[in-house]
Amino acid sequence: TGYVTLDPSYGNTGSCKSAITYIDGDQGILRYRGYDIAELCEKSTFMEVSYLLVYGELPTPEQFTRFKDKVQHHSLIHEDMKSFFTAYPGHAHPMAILSAMVCSLSVYHPELLKSDPTPKEMSQTITRLLSKVRVLAAFAYKRSVGEAFVYTKPKLDYVANFLHMMFTNPVEDYEVDEVIRKALDVLFIIHADHEQNCSTSTVRMVGSSKANLFAAISAGICALWGPLHGGANQMVIEMLEDIAKDGCNYKKYIDKAKDKNDPFRLMGFGHRVYKNYDPRAQIIKKHCDELLDQLGINDPILEIAKGLEEAALTDPYFIERKLYPNVDFYSGIVYRAMGIPTNMFTVMFALGRLPGWIAHWKEMIEEPGTRIARPRQIYVGSPQRAYVPINRRR
Ligand code: CMC
Repeated sequence: TGYVTLDPSYGNTGSCKSAITYIDGDQGILRYRGYDIAELCEKSTFMEVSYLLVYGELPTPEQFTRFKDKVQHHSLIHEDMKSFFTAYPGHAHPMAILSAMVCSLSVYHPELLKSDPTPKEMSQTITRLLSKVRVLAAFAYKRSVGEAFVYTKPKLDYVANFLHMMFTNPVEDYEVDEVIRKALDVLFIIHADHEQNCSTSTVRMVGSSKANLFAAISAGICALWGPLHGGANQMVIEMLEDIAKDGCNYKKYIDKAKDKNDPFRLMGFGHRVYKNYDPRAQIIKKHCDELLDQLGINDPILEIAKGLEEAALTDPYFIERKLYPNVDFYSGIVYRAMGIPTNMFTVMFALGRLPGWIAHWKEMIEEPGTRIARPRQIYVGSPQRAYVPINRRR
């Protein structure tokens, strides 16, 4: 009832107060709990950043050891769940599998479904989820290549364990490469939170109905899948491959992106909040150069990406609209260099974003007086009219 303000796509609506992430889109600033993203990438680890996001402070050595032990301890998946994976066709998109599996976890942990968990129960749910989602993601990949599932090893850290589960197979030894492990750790940190983006708002929206955390995260994964959100990282590589096949005709793709009668957009470009360079893209671009150099990889797609970026950044259309490369523009090239297949890119984004989603869900649950999210609308349909029986309709 009463006055409703229309704000399509929430361009200017603050949906909550939050103490987790600060963004200044004009200055290109991104901070988690007050710490600058570049400093965290340089000095911290994804596990530590996960703790920081979820609990609000960097952990003491004792807190950190306990947190890592718990995450490692909870990595087993109920044996029955393995049959779920085999029921999917081999070509199933791993994002479909991941969201279904995360929701299915709720079936196996009914004790964690309380809508008002105690702090201990909440911590248990959080560590379980952090641990199991990376296992489910690696299993989804193993299913797609028809290989046996591999579990974590206690002596490896979170990120190394993910690589181990992805690339170990019964006939080949796999040693985790430290250069790759470090690069993936940085990528996960970069993706860990981004305040009220589409998937995080979805997690909050679903969680506000007091649906359980597994259900809320599963919904967040679905929101992330879309090509305007996390799905863009897969589409960037597909676009760059098309440009390569097309003889690096950048102008053709730039013109297509500018054409208002063509739905095509330059993938990995533009952002709702950043109207200056996306600081995450800057860090990834630097790491991308370094990683390819250290691994001795010469990926022609990197040159194409740089060529396209230069062509776009000198075009008045992109200048006027302040469209810069975003986090998804260079991340796919890094994943390729690590041997991660294109259809797993958005899953990688989900793994990185998981602590951010959890932190927002926890912040919302703990905020006194949080009400169910319920936007309003402005009705533009028909006024009242009388029902016409079907035999009199023409
Ligand atoms: N290519 C061509 N034109 C674009 C692009 C693009 N990538 N992005 C925005 N524009 C134009 C848009 O057509 C509009 O032009 P006009 O004012 O003439 O109508 C203007 O720029 C403003 O765009 P918008 O659609 O109002 O901006 P938005 O804030 O609603 O959308 C966006 C943001 C990220 C969805 C959009 O820039 C986009 O579609 N980018 C491509 C997909 C992409 O890279 N997504 C990843 C986003 S970053 C990671 C994440 O959040 O998951």
